[in-house]
Amino acid sequence: MNYPNLKDAKIRSDKEVETIMVSNIKSDVFKDKKFYIRTYGCQMNVHDSEEIKAILTNLGFTETSNYEEADLIAINTCAIRENAHDKVFGFLGRIKHLKRENPNLIVCVGGCMPELESVTNMLKEKYPFVNIVFGTHNINDLGQMILDYTDKQDIEVYSIEGDIYENIEYNRDSKYTAWVNIMYGCDKFCTYCIVPFTRGKERSRRMEDIINEVKELKNAGYKEVTLLGQNVNAYGKDLKLNYNFANLLENVAKTGIARIRFVTSHPWDFTNEMINTIARYSNIMPHIHLPLQSGSSKILRLMGRRYTKEEYLALYHRIKTCIPRASITTDIIVGFPNESDEDFRETLRVVNECQFDGAFTFIYSPREGTPAARIKDTIPLEVKEKRLQELNELVNDYSLKANQKYLGKIVKVLVIDKSEKGEDKVCGYTETMKLVNIEGAVEDMGKIIDVEITDAKSFSLDGKKVVFVNN
Ligand code: SAH
Ligand code: SF4
Ligand code: F3S
Repeated sequence: MNYPNLKDAKIRSDKEVETIMVSNIKSDVFKDKKFYIRTYGCQMNVHDSEEIKAILTNLGFTETSNYEEADLIAINTCAIRENAHDKVFGFLGRIKHLKRENPNLIVCVGGCMPELESVTNMLKEKYPFVNIVFGTHNINDLGQMILDYTDKQDIEVYSIEGDIYENIEYNRDSKYTAWVNIMYGCDKFCTYCIVPFTRGKERSRRMEDIINEVKELKNAGYKEVTLLGQNVNAYGKDLKLNYNFANLLENVAKTGIARIRFVTSHPWDFTNEMINTIARYSNIMPHIHLPLQSGSSKILRLMGRRYTKEEYLALYHRIKTCIPRASITTDIIVGFPNESDEDFRETLRVVNECQFDGAFTFIYSPREGTPAARIKDTIPLEVKEKRLQELNELVNDYSLKANQKYLGKIVKVLVIDKSEKGEDKVCGYTETMKLVNIEGAVEDMGKIIDVEITDAKSFSLDGKKVVFVNN
């Protein structure tokens, strides 16, 4: 048994980060058994779930999309906002009866939520039918925990700064696009955010390991990699090896993989060298997710974001000038404690100036243990909801406007999946990360094709495949 502890979770020492080669346990103990996995949260969690799937497959399990027929249910959780919690506990409530009907069912809960003491205590006291609880630092122990499984609840959650794991196997969800971790953790400690507590300190993978992974993916036919980190600008700083994110981007570009994306860039520390590298390589996609959080410098200071509204705008315009075709998306929080109506208007003004291609918007949710949770929250929920609605109307208008600029144009789209819009349609993304539903391209899965845009909505485009005729 190992319990989390928020005090330890925020320690940042100069303890050396170890690189640990994981051993991928193979067994057929669970041959003919089925697992169901449900994932909440960010891309990092989605990618962690690909690791969990490989661990389970290596034990003999096969995946099912129906939890009612599963022999093992794994939930990979997110702690970013209260509603993420509610969903997980709601789902646990729904599967409780399955455990009664099938006492051999194994229920595993992992990810960011168990990293919080309160959640782990709750699982211990109120959800004894959850067999295995693990955190973000020990996903690679899951295989052994399952093999050792008994009826007693096993809780193994560590509040440590964290290490780097190599040799991880993944069951990737796509054959064409792949997530690649370049770093783990976060040291920014934005005052509202739980991630630095749940994911440990900022630590980078070595460049050669990342490049090797990208080369392997390219050789396996992958067309796109997305480099993952909570704040990719900080890549390399902890390694003291004299390379940075711009150098990494350049070397990934030189592998020749068709498309490179990256998330997330913090506006602080976004260097001109990075902008120039993105502009110079045609396989680095011109889409930047640049979270604003608030347009008020007062609120940004309270959030601990390390930039002012003016600095954000200056960076925004620098990117747009150097990479005119870049699309820029953002994250915005409304209702942070002490956000006045005027502060909120400032956010709207920044949105009006930047005219973002898209924005994820959230109502501030206090997170236990974070500094902001100790600030008295005086804004009534109705006010927060009204602000969210007003903001959403504005950002949706700009998304539509940005999409309408594509009408009649021919753009390159990587086809990745069947479309939800009809059997004869497929979908994919433009270089600028616009979702397109495409006619006439069912044969083109995994290919980058030319598509003429025929219709534009707020959240997607419609188009048809263009076939150039040589005469
Ligand atoms: N590392 C990324 C963000 C990861 S969390 C970055 O800094 O850009 C994704 C988004 O969730 C954040 O950008 C923020 O807008 C939102 N978020 C984080 N904590 C939150 C909280 N306590 N309440 C509401 N939204 C939050
Ligand atoms: Fe959270 Fe800030 Fe780190 Fe992003 S940069 S994960 S918002 S603490
Ligand atoms: Fe959620 Fe953890 Fe990601 S809290 S947003 S799953 S890092």
